[in-house]
Amino acid sequence: MDQNIFVIGQGGREHAIAWKLSKSNKVDNVYVCPGNGGTSLEENIINVDINIEDKDSLINFAKNNNIIMTIVGPEGPLVDGIVNSFIENGLKIFGPTKEYAILEGSKVFSKEFMEKFDIPTASFRMFSDNIEAKNYIKNKKYPIVVKADGLAAGKGVIISNDEDEAINAIDKLLGSNHSEYIVIEDFLIGQELSAIYICNFKGASYEIGLPWTKDYKSRDEFNSGPNTGGMGAVSHPLGYQHKNLLFKLHLEIEKILIKTIAAINNYNKKTNKNYLGFLYIGLMINNDNDIKVLEYNCRLGDPETQNLMLTLENQNIDLYDLIVNDPINSIKDFNLLKIDTEESSYCCTIVLAAKGYPDAYAKDFFLDISHIKQSDKIKIFHAGTVIKNNKIQVVGGRILTVNVFADTKEEAVNLAYENIKKINVFEDENLSVQNQNLVFYRDDIGN
Ligand code: AMP
Ligand code: GLY
Repeated sequence: MDQNIFVIGQGGREHAIAWKLSKSNKVDNVYVCPGNGGTSLEENIINVDINIEDKDSLINFAKNNNIIMTIVGPEGPLVDGIVNSFIENGLKIFGPTKEYAILEGSKVFSKEFMEKFDIPTASFRMFSDNIEAKNYIKNKKYPIVVKADGLAAGKGVIISNDEDEAINAIDKLLGSNHSEYIVIEDFLIGQELSAIYICNFKGASYEIGLPWTKDYKSRDEFNSGPNTGGMGAVSHPLGYQHKNLLFKLHLEIEKILIKTIAAINNYNKKTNKNYLGFLYIGLMINNDNDIKVLEYNCRLGDPETQNLMLTLENQNIDLYDLIVNDPINSIKDFNLLKIDTEESSYCCTIVLAAKGYPDAYAKDFFLDISHIKQSDKIKIFHAGTVIKNNKIQVVGGRILTVNVFADTKEEAVNLAYENIKKINVFEDENLSVQNQNLVFYRDDIGN
């Protein structure tokens, strides 16, 4: 009987997860729902056309297609309880139940969770009353950060530079049509780091640490412009540090991890369930090397996953083993085993985005990527694309990532830029009217 995997989602993250699992000799086919243009072109990956909010149809699909494991990419279905529904139907699924997904799904819950368990995070207050919130932001030090409580597809966090902006942010995020609660917190300066762990069936205490990555959040170079879903990623972002400092940072991050796991295990007593799935700790490291938690996510990051999957592939590690096998018998922490130095190899991910993103963006134009020679070290993962008459049509703001794995940072970054420049952009399906202005990417990934 076939051993098939079912991946839910349609972004670059899901293309990368599906691609990596399709490389496992323990997996026959990977189905992706709904997938994208890139997944439709891969060998052994099949797109499935089901609305991802239609849980019953997803469950029926898993029951009828020899699915040995379903993996959920985005946070929406997790917060919505897709894992609970699959488990109730006797199906194996990798992701936290909704009782845990609330760690990402509610800022109020996660901030209280951090406060209760003494996990370092930005000082904050929460509000349900508009006037009280506006009184609080008077005479505060700016910038200040206003966050909606629930999931908001990247639009729920507003960094305000003065009182007027903060008042607008409160009006935008709090109130009848918006969030019942908001969190207002201090602005943290520093470098962001994504520390992502795999918590498989034995629970959070047996977590496997994936290599650290850095996501480039803002649209423009040198952290300017609006916040986006992520414009690029690199592995080993701390590689420039002296090794003593690196070990110190490592210890600090481990402390945060251990406190987080203790908090999850304490919460276990209430839910009576293990934390199963990816645990993403979003960190901010300031100039004094103090580390604070910005957020918890209950899934893999995008575009960090594209970077991580190409790295795992080049290190001959089977993602299926990490997810399914006994963690005690697997490699437990990539950062401990392979201390994070630039010399130990490097992966660079650059996002190609549609002009206008993250606001209203250009779409329905076409790409020719045939001049890029893909290999086991150079890989394109698609996101906002579909295939129309054998041509790549753009339908989303983040279009694709160019990912390069190399021995050194310089080589990875240079090759990634060399290759992204080979992508030709056309207004028409016949690829006759070229217009490179329909796309953009950041010039400083790796800095
Ligand atoms: P969140 O969903 O809470 O992670 O916020 C999304 C992004 O907003 C983060 O990845 C940061 O880039 C930025 N951000 C959130 N909170 C803060 C903060 N307190 N200080 C500075 N930047 C923040
Ligand atoms: N790259 C950030 C995220 O996935 O939330």
